[in-house]
Amino acid sequence: MPKSPPVIAIDGPSGSGKGTVAQILARELGWHFLDSGAIYRILAYAAQQRGIPLDAPTQLAELARNLPVTFSPIDAKIRLEEVDIKDEIRTEAAGNAASKVAAIPAVRVALLERQRAFRAGPGLVADGRDMGTVVFPDAEVKVFLTASAEERARRRYNQLIEKGLDANLAALVADIAERDHRDATRSVAPLKPADGAEIVDTSDLDIAQTVACVRDLVRRRLDV
Ligand code: DC
Repeated sequence: MPKSPPVIAIDGPSGSGKGTVAQILARELGWHFLDSGAIYRILAYAAQQRGIPLDAPTQLAELARNLPVTFSPIDAKIRLEEVDIKDEIRTEAAGNAASKVAAIPAVRVALLERQRAFRAGPGLVADGRDMGTVVFPDAEVKVFLTASAEERARRRYNQLIEKGLDANLAALVADIAERDHRDATRSVAPLKPADGAEIVDTSDLDIAQTVACVRDLVRRRLDV
């Protein structure tokens, strides 16, 4: 059997920097990129549009199987039924809604193959919570990025302020702690480092330092 294209799995809680790092790395390598969190965000968004409650497993799994979504690497747009919803799915509310639908086992099963379909040559950088544990357990490189809840809340706060949006640091810390708890304690694919994952605490690292660190880990395992 021909060998599957290589995968670099980058998991961790939100605000650990994994999304930015995964994207930079994918661009540097010229590899494909999977933002798996976006898929859960889109599903929650689509459910809300259709009036499907976020705790209705059967309806949500059905929607997940047939989600009319396209990712365009050319213009970085995410389209749901031809409408660009890239910005709509980036809000705090959308993240929380995503975390709720992501806790439903039937939803995760329905999205498994959709995520695996991103694996293509020359390789894939996959960003999420369960890339190394469930979706790509055979990933060549597994990295778990983390940072303290306070530092992650501070990063989110700065992002919101930069965008000219209102933000409350204490509320963000509470929100992040609640989401972490839900993601880490759910019954399927809870957020945790995969066996053999390299754990990197980014609390005291900026993005450039984090990318350099992950790049080093990748080069120790892959000839890229
Ligand atoms: O990475 P993110 O913030 O965009 O993810 C949004 C939510 O989706 C997150 O709270 C948990 C869930 N998620 C997941 O359960 N599994 C993934 N592979 C990615 C995201």
